Amino acid sequence: MDLQKLQIEWDESMETGVNLVDQQHRQIIESLNTILTSEHRVEFQEYQKLLKRFSITLMSHHEDEERIINSIDPENLDAHKRKHQILLKDIIAHIQCIRHAESAFSFFDLRNDVLKHLQQDIDFFKSQ
Ligand SMILES: [Fe+2]
Ligand SMILES: [Fe+2]
Repeated sequence: MDLQKLQIEWDESMETGVNLVDQQHRQIIESLNTILTSEHRVEFQEYQKLLKRFSITLMSHHEDEERIINSIDPENLDAHKRKHQILLKDIIAHIQCIRHAESAFSFFDLRNDVLKHLQQDIDFFKSQ
């Protein structure tokens, strides 16, 4: 599988209209694209760092996003938090698979899980 083909191109339809959220979503996509384009081109240790940086970027985004959701629609906070927890658990599992088996399917799942939740965020913020 050519991982470069999995790269995500940002477009306006991905915007939620909340500046900080959009800025961080772009960072997440960029970070994911870097992972997808770096395979076999950087040292293994450097690659591990990219994976780690990606999960940290995602976790810190979740914290900020949950704070924003709490301020605009607190009733939805718990449900959204649960989605973040599931996403993070899945992402960590995919990263473990990538680290150990270098499985192309894990990259595919990683990418799709990120995109799926991105769409949930877009739907949520646009419905506000
Ligand atoms: Fe979210
Ligand atoms: Fe988000």
